Amino acid sequence: MIYLDNSATTRPFDSVIEVTVRSMSEAYFNASAAYKPALDVEKEMRACRKAIAMEVGAAEDEVLFTSGGTEGDNLAILGVAQTLREKANFVCSEIEHPAVLETIRRVEKLGHEVRVMPIGPDGVVDLAACAELIDEKTAFVSCMQVSNETGAIQPVEEIARIARAKNADVIVHVDGVQGFMRVPMHMGKMGVDLYALSAHKIHGPKGVGALVVKKRVRLAAQMTGGGQEKNLRSGTYNSAGILALHAAVKEMAARRAEVAALGAMKAHLWQRLCGVAGVRVNGPMPGDAASAPHILSLSFDGVRGEVMRNALEGAGILVSTGSACASHKQKVSTSLRAMGLTQEQADGTIRVSLGLHNRMEEMDAAADQMIRMFALLSKYKRR
Ligand SMILES: Cc1ncc(COP(=O)(O)O)c(C=O)c1O
Repeated sequence: MIYLDNSATTRPFDSVIEVTVRSMSEAYFNASAAYKPALDVEKEMRACRKAIAMEVGAAEDEVLFTSGGTEGDNLAILGVAQTLREKANFVCSEIEHPAVLETIRRVEKLGHEVRVMPIGPDGVVDLAACAELIDEKTAFVSCMQVSNETGAIQPVEEIARIARAKNADVIVHVDGVQGFMRVPMHMGKMGVDLYALSAHKIHGPKGVGALVVKKRVRLAAQMTGGGQEKNLRSGTYNSAGILALHAAVKEMAARRAEVAALGAMKAHLWQRLCGVAGVRVNGPMPGDAASAPHILSLSFDGVRGEVMRNALEGAGILVSTGSACASHKQKVSTSLRAMGLTQEQADGTIRVSLGLHNRMEEMDAAADQMIRMFALLSKYKRR
């Protein structure tokens, strides 16, 4: 099997599995307890905070553990909305993941306004439109670091600068789930106040992640109870998950050069396909500065994405149509339509996403099968 759906989730590193087993069998203590074995767990969790903080240009005590990206986005958006005394507007891009889009709609019920930033045909937020939308009443701006559908790196630093020039108190949230440790982030230098990340996209386990919260941000807890995480996120620590997240962060850091080299694999795959009439890339071209190293959105003229995906699965290659959460519902990709693709082009799209278990030979094998399947399926295409 060739697994090319790493944006849906990644296979955990062996180091992650080992740490999980050790944590569950030996270091299972409640990290909030006062005896030494529990304090040791707490110490290891602190090391994880430190490692994450180093990666994103924040301080160790600004890292708050969550159950993953969805919870981080919810806590960021609702947590800020519930602290505001005056009615304000909330801004996000039109291609946000549902964890942001669905949640930001909920602030309307609190009386705030939601404004949506459009993207251009390249899948990148339109900064001129963004500057027009954001004003002195904008309390919160949310933008993903990397699009989960096209791999387009978003100009979050520029967006933060535009927002702060209009309102110095604005809170800038970045959904970093597809970007963390694959595209650089320095919250301090880039003017980012909140950053959500998820372990299972970097070869860690599912159900654990972090929201990095800069000190200037006031948040209302969404989960109340025992008061863990400075009262912001109650619940017994998922210490096995957190220690495994640390193992994933350490291994990703040790293999940074390989992460960067995913870009060459993606470029090679596209190189093999670009000469085929009727195949196109959606979003920035591989090699472009705005193209993340690991995600490639491809359209095959006249062949539906799910047909291509199923055909590739038959050949032992796993890809997805659009994003995983939307694909099983057969939902239309709003991102692709927002980029100006016709309905038919959007329907003819698959997403290939790479991880550190992939090899260059797999790109050749995938390209061979895509070319073969496209030729075969084109015979049956609608005219
Ligand atoms: C951009 C983006 N944000 C948020 C999420 C949700 O993260 P999690 O699965 O950790 O809840 C995903 C998952 O695919 C994502 O791609």
